Amino acid sequence: MNKPAAPRTFHVKSFGCQMNAYDGERMGELLAAEGMTATASAEDADLVVLNTCHIREKAAEKVYSDIGRIVKKTRAREKPMIAVAGCVAQAEGPEMAARAKAIDIVVGPQAYHRLPQMVAAAANGARAFDTDMPAISKFDSLPKRIHRRPSAFLTVQEGCDKFCTYCVVPYTRGAEISRPWAQVMDEARALIDAGAREITLLGQNVNAWTGDDEAGRTQGLDGLIRALDRLPGLDRIRYTTSHPNDMTDGLIAAHADVEKLMPFLHLPVQAGSDRILKAMNRSHTADSYRRVIDRVRKARPDIAISGDFIVGFPGETDADFEDTLSLVAEIGHAQAFSFKYSPRPGTPAATMTDAFVAEEVMDERLQRLQSLLATQQHAFNAGTVGKTVDVLLERPGKKPGQMIGKSPWLQSVVVETAEPAGAMIRAEIVHAGPVSVNGVATS
Ligand code: SAH
Ligand code: SF4
Ligand code: F3S
Repeated sequence: MNKPAAPRTFHVKSFGCQMNAYDGERMGELLAAEGMTATASAEDADLVVLNTCHIREKAAEKVYSDIGRIVKKTRAREKPMIAVAGCVAQAEGPEMAARAKAIDIVVGPQAYHRLPQMVAAAANGARAFDTDMPAISKFDSLPKRIHRRPSAFLTVQEGCDKFCTYCVVPYTRGAEISRPWAQVMDEARALIDAGAREITLLGQNVNAWTGDDEAGRTQGLDGLIRALDRLPGLDRIRYTTSHPNDMTDGLIAAHADVEKLMPFLHLPVQAGSDRILKAMNRSHTADSYRRVIDRVRKARPDIAISGDFIVGFPGETDADFEDTLSLVAEIGHAQAFSFKYSPRPGTPAATMTDAFVAEEVMDERLQRLQSLLATQQHAFNAGTVGKTVDVLLERPGKKPGQMIGKSPWLQSVVVETAEPAGAMIRAEIVHAGPVSVNGVATS
């Protein structure tokens, strides 16, 4: 095979969760710091980074077909250099590289600070693989943020020690670590300097974040949020994803009294049956989840609740599934994600083959759950009609003169305005659609 020339342009394509989106941006910043230019599409790039997700089935197959498409459609002079990054790289990278000769680089989520050296090696004809989880954090060797959009992600916590029996994340991302206080605050300041008005703190279990502040006092995520609240230029703070067991009193209190902390909480419960929650190793019950939601709502009555659900976990009976539906009905969601259980290699649940739920049963359950969640989302949106809210404009809408921004409850708001992305305008919500709302600018 031809050895790829040193790439001058690159394209990073991220799949999966927001943490992958964040990693994708950081890889882009690293490559830009090497003098390379980003292209708008993979077809025009000399180097394509596929930043992959391993959470559900056929992850590796999707990567192979993406590579096939990129190699076929490229407009570059020769085959683009291909790097597989992210969680599939971590879980199956070396096997994939053995199968797909088009792969030049395999780099795991904890090793991507070494990407420039790997690109240099690949340009010299050596395939480069690195799925280490080095003790020295990649964050120490990443360049300064150059993100220039109004809303920015900031990873503060990585990895997971919870080991839910269905989930690959503890294996692909490693053990829980919290980034140090000063490093997070520095990155937040850099993002604000570059124009961010909203920061979403990210982590697989972001509410497990802990660290020592400047005075050496140990703080939780609420302490960090309170410190960010004091940064001039920042208007909105969000965080995701949280685990029910890590919703501390302090964090709940922050929802009551930190004005910049937006009234939105993504708090996955996964299922409503205690038997299934136990088999999932979730270490909470449906009732303990209800109590957390009650406390959060007491602190911030208008808070929008979001969640994740899995239907058809091995052994889930009709009665178990009905428990999920009743929990959902009780809670009322502003939005939510729901998935069919997917057996993942290396996870304990994948060995419970005798108890696997039939595909048709999963399909039917998913459809019922999704229609209930869709009704709830529409009802939540309808409940906001008539309210006048701040909207942080993010991008142009479909029609000329339209912009799309976010309400405090993370709804997409379509509004006619001459203001640019990055402006915070006041708008009255006048119409509720199933997944977005329309607003009329009042300022
Ligand atoms: N750390 C987060 C979410 C991680 S993955 C949390 O615990 O909430 C995002 C979602 O994918 C999970 O909440 C779960 O609903 C879903 N998921 C994870 N593994 C899955 C699997 N094997 N099959 C189906 N859905 C899965
Ligand atoms: Fe996966 Fe559970 Fe960890 Fe979330 S808490 S990342 S679902 S193991
Ligand atoms: Fe996917 Fe990895 Fe995120 S498996 S959901 S990209 S942590």
